[in-house]
Amino acid sequence: MQQLVASESPRLAPTIADLERQFAVQPPAVVAARGLTRTYGKGDATVHALRDVDVDIAEGRLTAVMGPSGSGKSTLMHILAGLDRPDGGQVTIAGTEITQLKEKKLTQLRRDKIGFIFQSFNLLATLTADENIVLPLSLARRRADEAWRRGVIEAVGLTDRLTHRPAELSGGQQQRVAVARALINRPAVLFADEPTGNLDSRTGGEVLNLLRRSVDEFGQTVIMVTHDAGAASIADRVVFLKDGRIVQDRQRMTRDEIYDTIKNLEDRPARDGEGSPR
Ligand SMILES: Nc1ncnc2c1ncn2[C@@H]1O[C@H](COP(=O)(O)OP(=O)(O)OP(=O)(O)O)[C@@H](O)[C@H]1O
Ligand SMILES: [Mg+2]
Repeated sequence: MQQLVASESPRLAPTIADLERQFAVQPPAVVAARGLTRTYGKGDATVHALRDVDVDIAEGRLTAVMGPSGSGKSTLMHILAGLDRPDGGQVTIAGTEITQLKEKKLTQLRRDKIGFIFQSFNLLATLTADENIVLPLSLARRRADEAWRRGVIEAVGLTDRLTHRPAELSGGQQQRVAVARALINRPAVLFADEPTGNLDSRTGGEVLNLLRRSVDEFGQTVIMVTHDAGAASIADRVVFLKDGRIVQDRQRMTRDEIYDTIKNLEDRPARDGEGSPR
């Protein structure tokens, strides 16, 4: 344990994140990526979706990923979640290096350790809300831990909608089913790619609130892509991508700070080898 020294920060009540920074204490990384590259196409048509990306995702934190369209956010999420493989580099999830895993082991790891929420909900139309929620367990032929299942369903506020099929639910309710489905197996990491992209601001706010609560109340680790500065301001950390590179990586930002950063990134022309924007 490091010795505490008087803080020189003018702020009276430092946050845990402040103290961690001050004493260089990092919560363990659940996801660690080194030297990730991913290209699409060949020759003149080559797209460098990711260029040498290193990132560690701390346990029990909400990390937002932002960046202009085409900057590589979804590519990064898919690779970190083991849904796609990089051309180069490594990804470790909860201690397992996944880039070399055979397909069967990778599928197993995804099932056990990963939750994923998509912009388009991705629910099965023929299943009820309840069946959709427990689908990851049904596929693994496992039974739900009843107390956890009830807790998750209550947390997402779907207790009275369990027998409804997706077509009988609002967009916000469908996304809440998707959040519950992603949480049902207590994943080591929950990935959300623009989870509020198809929702109006109120229902989007409910889904964000839910993700934040899963971090604060269940200690869930969440990585979320968003284009919305307000949504990203609920995160503990915001990582900005541009042209396949991480160009900024900051702790707790206000909506205005995020908005300015994004605007700055979008305004500046892309150049190879550029660092952080001014
Ligand atoms: N399957 C693919 N084939 C060819 N190019 C692709 C493919 N998937 C992504 N790309 C390209 O890789 C780059 C990064 O794409 P990605 O989907 O990761 O961006 P993004 O940051 O998620 O964008 P958005 O905000 O629009 O969702 C883009 O230039 C995209 O056109
Ligand atoms: Mg995307």
